[in-house]
Amino acid sequence: MSVWTRHQIFEKNSIILLIGILLVVAIGGLVEITPLFYLKSTIEKVDGIRPYTPLELAGRNIYVREGCYLCHSQMIRPLRDEVERYGHYSLAAESMYDHPFQWGSKRTGPDLARVGAKYSDEWHVTHLRNPRSIVPQSVMPGYPFLASNEVDASQIGDHLRTQQIIGVPYTDDQVQNAAADLKAQVDPDSPGADAFLKRYPKAVARNFDGKPGNPTEMDALIAYLQMLGTLVDFTLYNEKANLR
Ligand code: HEC
Repeated sequence: MSVWTRHQIFEKNSIILLIGILLVVAIGGLVEITPLFYLKSTIEKVDGIRPYTPLELAGRNIYVREGCYLCHSQMIRPLRDEVERYGHYSLAAESMYDHPFQWGSKRTGPDLARVGAKYSDEWHVTHLRNPRSIVPQSVMPGYPFLASNEVDASQIGDHLRTQQIIGVPYTDDQVQNAAADLKAQVDPDSPGADAFLKRYPKAVARNFDGKPGNPTEMDALIAYLQMLGTLVDFTLYNEKANLR
């Protein structure tokens, strides 16, 4: 019997064909899956990535609460038009401390993965209060109430602790001082600001909403928006690719 006639066994008996298919697919699956069990992580380490400060984390919660992700993605795909418009495509490491991630699936508005440092804080305050005062055709809703709501700092420590449990590398020191750090970030001249910057060396302490006093939800949301996409240094890449 030649090889070809032996193949008739499969072609004439559907059960044997089915078993054959299962066997081949199982081998293919194992070849794909087994290496993953021996890798410590599928996310490459990238310099500059750090966990969010308490204020940024509070801002991120407001971003989720207000459903900004329903209109904005945070995921630049490695396609030419996206990279030319938004900058370097998103790296896995850039959302490794995001629980839950904010990649999104809808772009009514532009992608926000690298919106940090693109505009001034005042621009964001004006835009978030009433987007049409800056972009007359905008369909984005206004969020004027953020400016008068103080951030609820009572649970931020527990929030950091929860993130710590699910793998974000917050230190116990950071967890214990979360409420103080949340306030210190908007008050760079306060005594707490130095301690805050020691705990979060690359973070920026400044007043984001332009109003002194306790942090408002506007402060928190802008602190979050202004750090998006700024952790990894892409200057060399941008110069070469002629991007901003
Ligand atoms: C109904 C859809 C919608 C929702 C919800 C929405 N946006 Fe927008 N957003 C837009 C559109 C459309 C634009 C572009 C026009 C403009 O700048 O207003 C935009 C623009 C922006 C920009 C400027 C981006 C750039 O690169 O120019 C920022 C920042 C922004 N939105 C933040 C937010 C935040 C934060 C929230 C949640 C509090 C939010 N948006 C909710 C639709 C939306």
